[in-house]
Parts: sequence; C-alpha cells; structure tokens
Amino acid sequence: MRQSTKDARASMVCDVSRFSLRGDVAVVTGGGSGIGRAIALGLASAGARVGVADMSAESAIKTAGEIAGAGGIGLAIHTDVTSEGGIGHAVKVVERELGPLSLAVNSAGIANAVPALELTTEQFEQMYRINVTGLFRSCQAEARAMLRTGRGSILNLASISGIVSHREMLQSHYNSAKAAVAHLTRSLATEWATHGIRVNSLAPGFTLTPMNTREEVSSMRADISRHIPLERFAEPEEMVGPAVFLLSSAASYCTGVDLVVDGGFTLL
Ligand SMILES: NC(=O)c1ccc[n+]([C@@H]2O[C@H](COP(=O)([O-])OP(=O)(O)OC[C@H]3O[C@@H](n4cnc5c(N)ncnc54)[C@H](O)[C@@H]3O)[C@@H](O)[C@H]2O)c1
Repeated sequence: MRQSTKDARASMVCDVSRFSLRGDVAVVTGGGSGIGRAIALGLASAGARVGVADMSAESAIKTAGEIAGAGGIGLAIHTDVTSEGGIGHAVKVVERELGPLSLAVNSAGIANAVPALELTTEQFEQMYRINVTGLFRSCQAEARAMLRTGRGSILNLASISGIVSHREMLQSHYNSAKAAVAHLTRSLATEWATHGIRVNSLAPGFTLTPMNTREEVSSMRADISRHIPLERFAEPEEMVGPAVFLLSSAASYCTGVDLVVDGGFTLL
C-alpha cells in the first residue's frame, strides 16, 4: 500500500510536455483582436495549427499573418458568430485546411455601457445575440466536430463582470451575459464530459485591449487600478498561459472551471 502511494507520487512529477499543443488544431473566434489575438498567437507558439475566425476579415488576416511570421500555421476565416451557419462553415474550413478540430477558444464579443433604465430591448438583445447565442452556437459547431474524434477542449471567454458588478460601469446587459457564459460553460461541461470534450471558461479582469480603451473604461483606468491588488490592468498576453493550461492535457481533470485571471480584483 505504502509502495503504491510512493509510485503514484513519483508519477505526479510535472511532465511539461503535457502543456504542449503540438498536433492540435484550434479555432479562435474573435482572434483578430485583443485577448483572442494574443491567445491565437499563444496556441500557435505552443504548437497548434490555428484558424483565426473574426467578423473583421482584415484583423483575422493580420493575426494569421503574425502566426505565419513567427513560424506557425495560421488560417484566416471571415466569420460572424451571429450568422446562421457562419461558425459551422468556419469549423468546416479549418478541418478541411488544417485537420480534425481538437481545440476551440470563443473570444468574439462586444461590450458597451448604457444605464439600465435607458437600455432598449434591441441593445439588450444585441448583447446576448453576440456574447451568449453566438458563443453557444460556436460551442455547438465545435463540439459536433470534436464528437467525430471523441476528443476536444473548449475555452469560453467569460469575465469578472459575470461575477461582480462594478458600481460605475453601467453594463447590466454585458454583466448578465457574461454570467450566462460561465454557467453555460458548466452546463456544456456536464453534458459533454462523457463525449471526451472538456469545456472551461476564463474570466479576465480589466485587460488592455481595444474593448477597454473605449471612453467609458479608459477614463476610469487610474481609479480602477487602485482597486486591483496588482495595481494595473492586464496585458492581453497574460491570458495566454491560463488559456494554454486549460486547453492542454495538463488540465485533463479540469472541466466546468471558470478561471479568474484578474490581478486580485474580485478578492476585495
Ligand atoms: N478586455 C477586457 O478587459 C475583457 C475582460 C473580460 C472579458 N473580456 C472578454 O474577452 C473577449 C475578448 O475581448 P477583447 O477585449 O479582446 O475585445 P476586442 O474588441 O479587442 O476583440 C473582440 C473581437 O471579436 C470580434 N467580434 C465581435 N463581434 C463578432 C462577431 N459577431 N463575430 C465574429 N467576431 C466578432 C471583433 O471583430 C474583435 O476582433 C470578449 O468576449 C470580452 O467580453 C474582455
């Protein structure tokens, strides 16, 4: 008995090759900008072949070009996650050009601020159309592809805004959509575990992307930073390590996790 415990401990020595994504094929929605772009580049540097799917064809081409420039394999796909069949088509193109899909990152999203009393139904529904329905459809198309090999790992971009509500940021539609992303992730993780598909989410804190250089946030940056234990916003590249971890086989027992990466903001 004692011997087997010792053997088990010996086999737990960290095998760093489990963080490698060599041989994997990924699709990254919203990979043309910000966090999606950083993660797409990160996945490629960890060895994956990466399809960059974005509504902005120009940005997708730019990220795919950066991946190629760094010696990786990147493919740009013009995709709107809200269009019927859009992400399904993107997955098909990725599989045709790069091979069977094993990884997916759903980063396509929007954010804006409107006081709840002034928020129109159209503004509320538009937020959900992209950040929730578009992400759900993406997961569905990705999982359908992964089912064919019985192996896959999906990472959804949630947010600390789905956990806490910042008093001065008037985004009830965004906050509630991000809470939905985290719980949708748990629900899909539960349903798809026996199919060999893990589903996790990442909850970034304030990150320096075009989304956060918009006026409503940039004017509050110094004040917000005072409430972050690490005293600064994150660089998009700081989301790469947590993303690679959750997607890789190093996280083989993690599913339904919402990994908070916020410099300690939600600890307060
Ligand atoms: N920046 C932050 O501080 C922060 C914090 C927490 C969570 N997030 C989440 O991370 C994700 C990425 O945010 P970011 O800051 O990198 O934003 P970003 O604006 O830099 O990038 C978003 C990308 O999504 C694409 N996109 C938007 N709508 C799309 C659609 N319908 N179909 C396909 N692509 C579409 C855009 O073209 C853009 O390239 C979002 O889901 C966001 O909610 C961001």
